[in-house]
Amino acid sequence: MKIISIANQKGGCGKTTTAINLASALGLNKKKVLLIDLDAQAHASLGLDIESQDSLYNVISNLTPRKLKIENIIKRVEDTFDIVPSNILVGTLEQELADEIGRELKLLEIIKTISDQYDYILIDCPPSLGILTINAIRVSDEVIIPVETSRFSLQGVDHLMDIITLVRERLDHEVKCRVLITMFDSRLRHSFAMLETFKEKFETLLFDTIVHINVKLKESAVCGQPVAFFDKYSRGSKDYYTLAKELLLIEKQEKEEEAPKEEEAYSEPEPAPQEAPQTEEIVLEPTREKMTSLEPFSEKMQETVAREAQEFFTTRFAIDAPGAKSVYVTGSFNDWSLDDGCRLKETDGQWEVYIPLKAGFYKYQFIVDGVWKEDPNNSRRERNSFGDINSLIEVNAEPALEEK
Ligand SMILES: Nc1ncnc2c1ncn2[C@@H]1O[C@H](COP(=O)(O)OP(=O)(O)OP(=O)(O)O)[C@@H](O)[C@H]1O
Ligand SMILES: [Mg+2]
Repeated sequence: MKIISIANQKGGCGKTTTAINLASALGLNKKKVLLIDLDAQAHASLGLDIESQDSLYNVISNLTPRKLKIENIIKRVEDTFDIVPSNILVGTLEQELADEIGRELKLLEIIKTISDQYDYILIDCPPSLGILTINAIRVSDEVIIPVETSRFSLQGVDHLMDIITLVRERLDHEVKCRVLITMFDSRLRHSFAMLETFKEKFETLLFDTIVHINVKLKESAVCGQPVAFFDKYSRGSKDYYTLAKELLLIEKQEKEEEAPKEEEAYSEPEPAPQEAPQTEEIVLEPTREKMTSLEPFSEKMQETVAREAQEFFTTRFAIDAPGAKSVYVTGSFNDWSLDDGCRLKETDGQWEVYIPLKAGFYKYQFIVDGVWKEDPNNSRRERNSFGDINSLIEVNAEPALEEK
């Protein structure tokens, strides 16, 4: 069982959207999931069309005339995951708990009574660093910090990480943190520059998955549904599905790393020499390939993905850029978005990537160290609305570009 808080004191950076859609994506991956709405704004509850007169307030508060157990307030969402709803009264807990002894451990006491029923418990935190957020961090194994590239504040994330370190030291509780880029707008060049800054600063703490800006995520919240139920094939649905898969892969890797330690503890003093165990290498493949190779939402989706995969032509994109640190290709084939699937790899100054594309006509550009460039080796081009040049390719049964 893993408890993950989704926290950032900065408002509107995608905490609730991540909490709802990660809960549903993990649930669709057959995991038992509980989402705890810890925000008095109750956006997670409202975003799932759940209005409740009862909330964590009735479980935690000593002032309520209607004291309840956590089991009594849990509700089911789309038969996929459970939720502990919130309401405006949850906000009053900040004050009520202020002078209580053991105030940082309230959530821990409550969660331990139900934790064995779930594989994942996700906590949607309020946009503040008050006592509720500290309770959430204290009970968590991991904190996901969503950050929005366009209004990104390094200072804010540093502050939250300081709090996490404080909890680690003062409350003697080990908690990992990871940073998730949300609302990535690939139409803005600024986003790509910010992405490089993120990668340099957070390195392995950054999820490979990037959540792109996608109107379906907004619309689904308005309609009270996780995006996977509102529009399963939307970009937002795929992004959160990919995030869930990345999380499951991380957990698998962690378990594999821990396993030999346990064996060592029980091994004979002088074990017979053995061949090195074959560890399964977990490689995060480009998003589109990941969608074809990983466990799908349903059989129907599996069939659709398999059918679609047959229609792809592996297309090579290449550019000479000696000394460059990063090169991407983006275009109309992926809605001008950016993920690791469109990152080029370098050999002796030449960068290349193979991308499966359906037959069709596409516009594209390279992004070399954050600078957008047309393909110098392709004479088919057109001027775009930014005043620079898009390269053009036509992919068909006999593609114009080299096939793998
Ligand atoms: N990837 C996305 N694409 C488009 N809209 C998004 C995306 N992620 C979130 N939004 C929208 O942005 C707004 C803020 O998102 P959200 O409520 O998830 O942020 P939050 O961090 O939980 O906010 P708060 O700090 O107020 O709790 C919402 O209207 C949501 O629908
Ligand atoms: Mg929120």
